[in-house]
Amino acid sequence: MTVTSTSVAIIGAGPAGLVLAHLLAARGIDSVVLERHDRRYVEHRVRAGVLEHPSVELLRQLGVAERLDREGLAHRGIELAFEGRRHRLDFNELVGHSITVYGQQEIVKDLIAARLAAGDPIVFEAADVTISDIDGPSPVVRYVADGATHQLRCRVVAGCDGFHGTSREVLGSAVPDHEVFDRDYPFGWLGILAEAAPTIDELIYSNHENGFALYSMRSPKITRLYLQVPADERIEDWSDDRIWSELETRLPTGDGFTFNTGPILERGITAMRSFVFAPMRWGSLVIAGDAAHIVPPTGAKGMNLAIADVAVLADILDDVINRGRHEQLDDYTSACLRRVWRCQHFSWWMTSMLHRFDDDPFRRQLQLSELRLVTSSTAAATSLAENYVGLALGESFVRSHA
Ligand code: APR
Ligand code: PHB
Repeated sequence: MTVTSTSVAIIGAGPAGLVLAHLLAARGIDSVVLERHDRRYVEHRVRAGVLEHPSVELLRQLGVAERLDREGLAHRGIELAFEGRRHRLDFNELVGHSITVYGQQEIVKDLIAARLAAGDPIVFEAADVTISDIDGPSPVVRYVADGATHQLRCRVVAGCDGFHGTSREVLGSAVPDHEVFDRDYPFGWLGILAEAAPTIDELIYSNHENGFALYSMRSPKITRLYLQVPADERIEDWSDDRIWSELETRLPTGDGFTFNTGPILERGITAMRSFVFAPMRWGSLVIAGDAAHIVPPTGAKGMNLAIADVAVLADILDDVINRGRHEQLDDYTSACLRRVWRCQHFSWWMTSMLHRFDDDPFRRQLQLSELRLVTSSTAAATSLAENYVGLALGESFVRSHA
């Protein structure tokens, strides 16, 4: 068995783990990233694609936004469609910021390339990761790579291993009175990536009687589209023709909007859920991103929330590792959860306003009334815009807790 040491062992090379590794390096803190899958897998997994303004700023500060600035699509606003009409919300005008559309796997590629170029370690295909000794100041992570067992000693373990990772389980066993807040939705999203040039340069969120649809994109040549489907739907039951025809029905083509179809490059169905686990830290173990919380994708918050967690965490670890102030970890959960719950509410609210739930006519009228409100009242539109472009990242927030 090889024995090595580092300041922070980071489990998972998704946006949370990789951004954390860069934030720590910028503070002179060494870390090792352990990832279960191979590099190709994590770089090609199709996920979300909307970056809030503060997330873009943070990636720029880290010096990893060169391609993002070149290829990312700046969107000044979004459109909400209902009753066959589109209504535009201009975020720039309402709150002075825009959002950027850039695939999550592109960010992952950029972060991996920059880390490896700096000579900092990422262990891909790290199997059987176990975490121990989190009650004390010297936790240990064991894993298998290249056929050998490795022991990594560290000061802090950062569980950035997504919703199906192991860190949350370890934390849960250590804290018997932990809390889980959970909500399932009776539907999922069928998502496709299509080789079809977008015909509009902003997203359309459409509330239609058949169910929700979303028109999004990845580049001037690639469209990303979603359809609300029942939670237990099978992708095999959706032929290309059925997908395009349903999109044609649900997107507001009556008002002159048309969109291109093309070969479908990728397809899948994702369940929708809201989930929060608390606390996000015990002893020397912290969790961040999807490992700690899940939001339904309607507010485009998942990746941004992961980045916000690790922005908070990096400042705390700066105090812990560089100044020996271990007690700063006590602030981590409460500092993160305030933003997490804001995003939970926003994502739940957007989901509730835009999806078809049941045939309850009362609920339907409430949805329409809310949609009319956010598309006609500047106050209501500003609130949506403020939440969508993202509240400022939390450094001052953490400090005010310290
Ligand atoms: N050992 C090592 N790596 C692991 C393990 C494990 N036991 N379990 C999971 N992982 C890895 C996964 O393979 C994945 O690459 O952890 C990574 C977690 O990455 P993500 O799932 O992308 O989660 P996160 O970094 O929190 O990103 C935020 O928000 O809504 C979503 O789409 C959004 O995926 C994005 C996420
Ligand atoms: C996407 O482009 O993948 C996307 C955009 C907006 C969302 C969710 C996903 O709310």
